[in-house]
Amino acid sequence: MALFGRQEKTAGQGTVLPRHIAIIMDGNGRWAQKRGLPRTAGHAAGAETFRRIASYCRDLGIEYLTVYAFSTENWKRSAEEVSAIMGLLKKYLEEAIEKMRRENVRIRILGDTSVLSPELRELIARVEAIDETLDTRTQANLCVNYGGRDEIVRAVKAWQADPGHGELTEGELSKYLYTAGMPDPDLVIRPSGEERVSNFLLWQSAYSEFYFTDTLWPDFTEKDMDRAIEAFRKRDRRYGGVKK
Ligand code: FPP
Repeated sequence: MALFGRQEKTAGQGTVLPRHIAIIMDGNGRWAQKRGLPRTAGHAAGAETFRRIASYCRDLGIEYLTVYAFSTENWKRSAEEVSAIMGLLKKYLEEAIEKMRRENVRIRILGDTSVLSPELRELIARVEAIDETLDTRTQANLCVNYGGRDEIVRAVKAWQADPGHGELTEGELSKYLYTAGMPDPDLVIRPSGEERVSNFLLWQSAYSEFYFTDTLWPDFTEKDMDRAIEAFRKRDRRYGGVKK
């Protein structure tokens, strides 16, 4: 059962529920290793956890959920592992095409998709076409071939190449990021005991609250999400200002 009703206020000042939650889905490999399974089984379990947690977030009334599915550095992994992750993404996008209209959920892929397989790019294009027809406040962002530094460099280049660009300010540059038009994440969750940012949403997480847990991502439950949100609710967000 959901901890919070949809009617409850979402983020802004003195708020209770994050508008935007971002997750580094870490620990899939260790989860599999502990069970004597190949790493790819950990990713399959992680993809299932994502489905479950995304539904839960939607039921809670979280507007944006952004997950790190594949980083610009993950190409260093074995061909088998890369191909397994891409296969899981393909399966997920195929399902999404069937379901997103019915469930009224927008799905975006954030990252440099130009190097993905033609098959994946075609699925992404179909998802984007459906996105445009939806009128919804619920959105899942999958970061694929995403790197925070890469995103900033690309944004600067895109700004420079845009003849209509305005003066270079923080707000102006934000318009050229993959997350243009979205609120910054209020809460960033990293499971699996690692406590680092790993090139995820570097620009956008400037004032995010961070929540770390030892739970491995495939074991992450709705209860863990409740705990993360509960911890967030206790934080005193000052955005560099002073306590009132
Ligand atoms: C990090 O755990 C996880 C990844 C690099 C991949 C995450 C991808 C998925 C969960 C599948 C994506 C598909 C969908 C539909 C969201 P790790 O492998 O680094 O784990 P370890 O630190 O225990 O080795």
